Amino acid sequence: MAEVKLLNLDHVAIAVHDLDAAVEAHRRRYGVEPLYREVVESQGVEEAMIPVGGSFIQLLQPLADDTPVGKFLARHGEGLHHVAYAVADIEAALEHLRSVGAKLVDETPRIGGRGARIAFVHPADMAGTLVELVELES
Ligand code: CO
Repeated sequence: MAEVKLLNLDHVAIAVHDLDAAVEAHRRRYGVEPLYREVVESQGVEEAMIPVGGSFIQLLQPLADDTPVGKFLARHGEGLHHVAYAVADIEAALEHLRSVGAKLVDETPRIGGRGARIAFVHPADMAGTLVELVELES
């Protein structure tokens, strides 16, 4: 029986127009620094990952207007974009979610930042909140 095992709140993602400005704002307001920045072409974003305890704040700037995050910014403006849960086994998690009727964006995992396997669950499935599952390389 497939099941979901949530290991951690991996990150909270915030969509921004200007990644440099958002990184600097976090530095000045909260005294935090990105551990790394990465262009993830497959998702159409440049992301900065800022460690906070055992989790990250993920700042997302779209590479173009016609990307998912670009369209999100046009519709909603800057703000909370998704929450990401670390899972032990992403295939088992997706199988379980399908079995309970969850509305998936990704039927199979794809590769995200850090080389992690990720999949998104549709915001219509959970209180308007886009959820990302992340299986980190062990
Ligand atoms: Co994310």
